Amino acid sequence: MPSLRRPALLFAVCGLVAMLTFLQTSEKSITYHFAKTVQNPLNVLYFEDMPSPAATEEAIIQPYKRHELTRNINCAAYFQNSSITPLPKIDKRIKVSDKDNIDLSCEAIQSRGYYPNSTDQDDYPIAFARVVYKDYQFQEVAFRADFAPNNVFCYTIDTKAKPEFVDKLLALAKCFPDNIVIAKEKFDVLQNGKNMIAAHLACLNELASKNYNYVFLLQNSDMKSKTNPETVEILKILNGTNDVSALHASPRHINPKADYSLKGLAIFRNATLNQRKTTPKGRNIRIHPTKSFVQSIISRQAVDYIQTELDLTKFIKRLESNPYGFDEGFFGTLNNNPTLNLPGGYTHECLEKNIEYEALTRLTLWENIEEMNKKCHSRKFRHTLCIYGLEDLFFLDSQPHTVVNKFLSEFDFGAIDCMAERMHNRTYYGTPGGFDLSTYADQPHVIYNRMKQEGRANEFKCFNTNITSRT
Ligand SMILES: *[C@@H]1O[C@H](CO)[C@@H](O)[C@H](O)[C@H]1NC(C)=O
Ligand SMILES: *[C@@H]1O[C@H](CO)[C@@H](O)[C@H](O)[C@H]1NC(C)=O
Ligand SMILES: *[C@@H]1O[C@H](CO)[C@@H](O)[C@H](O)[C@H]1NC(C)=O
Ligand SMILES: *[C@@H]1O[C@H](CO)[C@@H](O)[C@H](O)[C@H]1NC(C)=O
Ligand SMILES: *[C@@H]1O[C@H](CO)[C@@H](O)[C@H](O)[C@H]1NC(C)=O
Ligand SMILES: *[C@@H]1O[C@H](CO)[C@@H](O)[C@H](O)[C@H]1NC(C)=O
Repeated sequence: MPSLRRPALLFAVCGLVAMLTFLQTSEKSITYHFAKTVQNPLNVLYFEDMPSPAATEEAIIQPYKRHELTRNINCAAYFQNSSITPLPKIDKRIKVSDKDNIDLSCEAIQSRGYYPNSTDQDDYPIAFARVVYKDYQFQEVAFRADFAPNNVFCYTIDTKAKPEFVDKLLALAKCFPDNIVIAKEKFDVLQNGKNMIAAHLACLNELASKNYNYVFLLQNSDMKSKTNPETVEILKILNGTNDVSALHASPRHINPKADYSLKGLAIFRNATLNQRKTTPKGRNIRIHPTKSFVQSIISRQAVDYIQTELDLTKFIKRLESNPYGFDEGFFGTLNNNPTLNLPGGYTHECLEKNIEYEALTRLTLWENIEEMNKKCHSRKFRHTLCIYGLEDLFFLDSQPHTVVNKFLSEFDFGAIDCMAERMHNRTYYGTPGGFDLSTYADQPHVIYNRMKQEGRANEFKCFNTNITSRT
């Protein structure tokens, strides 16, 4: 037996003993070991599912605490391959509402979750900027799943939000003053996306004094599907690259009368830079409106650059100057136009060759795309997007994306709580079967940025990984 395996086996035996002790004495806590990231001899990065020999740190990890209404669900069963083990029948879905009375004392909030005082990822803080208007109990579960002592969470409240939601969110914020900020201004976010950009920018301003490496831009019903330890490993591989799609903007999103020249946008604070008409290679400079998704992962350097070097006033007006709004064009355009020089950005050349790139941040299943429609096992769609239920968990669990969209408490809160339990187990117990990081290292934008740092960006060959191909 290779010597590396022996301590692992020892830990496994210890774990079993701890588990048996737990069963015998019915104590409320189990001793787990933090999973550690290792690099195997073949240089393929993976996340070890067994406690590694280096993991000397031990902690008392409480098991995940479910909502009283979801206690009887056999969560683990929904993470099995239904082609092999039939899923338990779903008789009645659990629904929760913002009208439900729940205890909002800080003591009660803290006792509903497990909030460690320290983790192995404390030196890699992550920020979350989320525009919200409903589903408090979902927000609490999602916050808990992403919690780490140094992570920071900003919420911008949509004016649509009802007091029964806002009051609860404020209680959560008050309970975690070091981790949560609420943007001072509320925004009237319209169905067509108008004001979504401003709402997120308000949070980025609130987060300016906080320490973080990357920020996730999220909307109300998104849930992270990668744990904090997994996310940190992914972000280290991105190494400054922003996770933003590069997709063709549909003509309805581009107001043909809008001036997208540098001069017209006056986008650089340094006016000299707005006078440029050609690139150093002599090509005419044009800013190409480019689509991505609102959900994206932006590096701290990129946020700082936007705040100090760019003036976004006219740019946002242009994006919003057509009836369909264009919130998805904000980071899409900033990230995919090298003229704008955004740190961690991508090239526009691939789109010109008709090679789109869909980022890994957000998993969405569209009703009107046959391949995706079939994968929506809940068969529930809203505004042509799949709303996930318990029967989708096995699929969601095996996807490389870091955020899944959408979960709704009024449809299946059981799915939300089971997903969070799975996240809790993976956070503190390790990732079953390991965790393949090569998917992230092999993304075109990651390769492009690595080549750019090496001064070889011009050798980059465009490709699409087709991970969630929309066509
Ligand atoms: C999480 O771990 C606990 C304790 O090992 C187990 O009972 C539970 O079924 C697991 N949940 C899921 C969703 O895998
Ligand atoms: C589920 O099981 C079926 C039948 O064995 C297999 O073909 C399929 O690849 C499995 N799915 C996954 C995601 O592992
Ligand atoms: C964190 O520290 C506080 C204060 O020392 C303690 O009451 C709490 O139990 C600790 N939390 C965990 C999860 O260990
Ligand atoms: C990450 O980027 C830095 C420069 O910003 C570079 O020196 C380093 O080699 C990169 N690391 C990896 C693993 O690509
Ligand atoms: C503005 O940009 C020009 C061109 O790169 C540069 O020469 C100049 O120093 C910049 N001005 C300021 C104030 O940074
Ligand atoms: C992605 O799909 C396109 C079009 O179907 C195909 O030409 C290309 O080879 C695919 N790329 C990969 C990496 O599979």
